[in-house]
Amino acid sequence: MGLRFPNPVGLAAGLDKNGECIRAWETLGFGFIEIGTVTPRPQPGNPKPRMFRLPKAQALINRMGFNNQGVDYLVEQTRRADFKGVLGINIGKNTDTPVAQATEDYLLGLRKVYPWASYVTVNISSPNTPGLRDLQYGEALNQLLVALKAEQQRLADRYGRYVPLAIKIAPDLTDTDLVTVGEALLRYGLDAVIATNTTFSRAGVEHLPHAGETGGLSGAPLMTRSTEIVRRLANILQGELPIIAAGGILSGADAAAKIAAGASLIQLYTGLIYRGPVLIRESVEAIRDQNVLIRQSKDST
Ligand SMILES: Cc1cc2nc3c(=O)[nH]c(=O)nc-3n(C[C@H](O)[C@H](O)[C@H](O)COP(=O)(O)O)c2cc1C
Repeated sequence: MGLRFPNPVGLAAGLDKNGECIRAWETLGFGFIEIGTVTPRPQPGNPKPRMFRLPKAQALINRMGFNNQGVDYLVEQTRRADFKGVLGINIGKNTDTPVAQATEDYLLGLRKVYPWASYVTVNISSPNTPGLRDLQYGEALNQLLVALKAEQQRLADRYGRYVPLAIKIAPDLTDTDLVTVGEALLRYGLDAVIATNTTFSRAGVEHLPHAGETGGLSGAPLMTRSTEIVRRLANILQGELPIIAAGGILSGADAAAKIAAGASLIQLYTGLIYRGPVLIRESVEAIRDQNVLIRQSKDST
């Protein structure tokens, strides 16, 4: 991505949707911070309750629905934070914007956040905005990526700074869909991929209270599937673009497993809820040890 990270452990999108606590996340030890998802206009999100704990499974189910104060508010927070570290800004579309016009929302978001972001994430994988995930497929994906890359180039010329674009994908893509997405990212020259968002699946938690709630499942039950996506993507992308892994990291060992599967960076959300900030340092240390192992095995072959 052309960026230098103080450490490879980041805050995943959705915990600080409006960018209100940027310096606090830095103080907790994160190597990078992703704020958002932000939409062009403010919107309330879904009615409460909209987030549920499944503590026995170290999991959450949420249907927040992109509650946020809108992009102008987020930009103002970012300006005030005057943060010198790596800041990702995650953009989405308003719920009442028809999917056919989604590109306009993403372009508007990109233009507004561009001068303030170290990288911009295009979220096409939230399960809580009807139709959003359709943008991961076929012509809709191609058209979106072409439009975003053209706008990125215009903005890079205008500001004299190239801000990398990452795409965030769902863990529910089939193997065939994943190949199609991976090839599209390579073809259009995207800069990174974030794998993954939350899942529709309830495998392993069916018996627990709240398992029947509508929304995306995150935390421990997501770890295996999400890591499998990272492994397959690494195989498709062959190092051409970096993978940022999110999904079910509850321990340093989980963080190291994402790196072993081919990720360059990781992000935490649900693990931070259940384990607290100790998980950040634990992950940094486990990844450092894992990278030593990877280097040693490369040297010996
Ligand atoms: C309550 C909640 C809200 C989230 N909101 C967003 C969001 O706005 N945008 C986004 O890209 N991902 C969002 N996510 C997904 C996380 O960034 C992450 O990809 C996912 O939870 C998997 O990681 P985890 O198992 O460590 O939580 C949200 C997750 C949770 C639990």
